[in-house]
Formats: sequence, C-alpha cells, structure tokens
Amino acid sequence: MNDTKTALVTGANKGIGFAIARGLGAIGFTVAVGARDDARREEAVERLRAAGTDAFGVALDVTSGHSVAAAAAAIERTAGRLDVLVNNAGISGPTEGGAQDPTTLDLDVVRTVLDTNVFGVVRVTNAVLPLLRRADAPRIVNVSSNMGSLTLRTGPVMAAYAPSKSMLNSLTAQYARRLADTNVIVNACCPGYVATDFTGFNAPRTPEQGAAIAIRLATLPDDGPRGGFFDDEGVVPW
Ligand SMILES: NC(=O)c1ccc[n+]([C@@H]2O[C@H](COP(=O)([O-])OP(=O)(O)OC[C@H]3O[C@@H](n4cnc5c(N)ncnc54)[C@H](OP(=O)(O)O)[C@@H]3O)[C@@H](O)[C@H]2O)c1
Repeated sequence: MNDTKTALVTGANKGIGFAIARGLGAIGFTVAVGARDDARREEAVERLRAAGTDAFGVALDVTSGHSVAAAAAAIERTAGRLDVLVNNAGISGPTEGGAQDPTTLDLDVVRTVLDTNVFGVVRVTNAVLPLLRRADAPRIVNVSSNMGSLTLRTGPVMAAYAPSKSMLNSLTAQYARRLADTNVIVNACCPGYVATDFTGFNAPRTPEQGAAIAIRLATLPDDGPRGGFFDDEGVVPW
C-alpha cells in the first residue's frame, strides 16, 4: 500500500478546517481540500502548497448528494483510498429576529442547520466509507461543539445550532458502535472558542489551537478511544 496517507477535510478553505488541513499536511498527509466555492478552494490549495503541503482541491457542498458523490469519486481517482475524514464543515445559522430562540424558533433555520451540520456528515461519511475501509488505520473526526453538550449547556441559547451538535455527538456514538469491530475509529471533538468568521473573529483561541484536538483524533493509535467526545483538556461530557 502507498505510504502517503490522504485526509479529506470538509470546509477546509478557511477557519478551523484550513488549520486542520495545514496541520495534517505538516505531518505528512496529502490533504484533500473539501470546499464548495471554486475560488476559495483553489486559493486554499495554493496557500497549503506554499506551506509545503501536498494538497488537492475537491469540490464539495455537504448539502448536496450529487456533490458528495462526485467528491468521493474524485478522491478515489486521485488517491485510491482515504485514511482520515474530518467532518468540519458547519454553520451556526441565522439568529436575527429570534430565529434560534426556542420560543420563536424558525423551523426552516433548524432544517438548514441540520442539513449541513448533521445530514452533511452522514452524506460525506457514507460516501467515503468504502475508501476509508481500504486504509490500514482509518479515522473519522466529527468537529462538534461543547454547545451540544446537554451536561454543560454552555454558550448563547441557540435552538438550531446547539441541538445540531448534540445530534452530531449522538451520531458519532452510533457510527462508533456500528464500526466497533472494524479498524475505523470515530470520535467527536470540540475546538474551543476560536477566532474565525464563525465567531466574528471575536474569540480567544487561534484556528491552530482549535485544530489541535481534531489532528490528535485523526492520528490516534489503533488502541485509541472510540465513540468519545474530546477537547484539549480531555473528555467533554455529553
Ligand atoms: N469557531 C468556534 O469557536 C467553534 C466552536 C465550536 C465548534 N466549531 C465548529 O468548527 C467547525 C468549523 O468552524 P469555523 O469556526 O472554522 O467556521 P468558519 O470559519 O465559518 O468555516 C466554516 C467552513 O465550513 C464550510 N461550509 C459551510 N457550509 C458548507 C457546505 N454546505 N458545504 C461545504 N462546506 C461548507 C465553509 O465554507 P464557505 O467558506 O464556502 O462558507 C467554511 O469553509 C464548524 O463545524 C463549527 O460548528 C467552531
């Protein structure tokens, strides 16, 4: 088997996803840069290559089954298999006009947020799972949030975004159970509160700091934890 490992990072054109791509590239991964916008994707690929990473772009809108299927086919053509999948693409959804106040919740906003943060993860994971199964040590990392923790109940009240991450955590556990007898290790992570477009760059952590836990889970040893939820400090309560 070819020694060079390939990682697909969704939403890799900016923010935490870009930092995950750069971090995985720095430790020798070939990075498939999953991004929906052609110009933003190509610019990210160029920046990664300039930093010494072997990167290639993959057109990927996680809300489109066609796009996801084409992305999986492109990765198969280019790399033949996939070693790591980082499901990073995510949206907060609009909050104006009480759209995410549970008492005035806009269900279209809920649908939109779930389509990206939850259904998108299922689409991408299931499309590339056959490629992951060809790897020696496949790893799946779902980028979640401690806002999805039913124990912590942290951050602002956001009745579309927070439950989307609770459901992503639950899905992570379901995938881990289903794949328990295989070499595919699945975990979720929380990057912490990170300065990106997502937070209006109004947060204490850098994208590199936010990326670190995802990179750790992407490179777990074969006896590493399965079906867990982690941040830099360790286990995050569900
Ligand atoms: N920042 C934080 O403090 C924080 C905290 C906890 C969890 N997180 C999670 O971390 C992840 C990354 O967030 P971030 O802070 O880096 O946000 P960001 O800077 O807004 O980046 C989000 C990325 O997801 C992509 N994306 C959105 N919808 C997509 C779609 N339908 N198909 C493909 N890509 C799509 C965006 O692409 P475009 O450029 O095309 O929009 C962008 O590349 C998210 O899952 C978020 O929930 C962030």
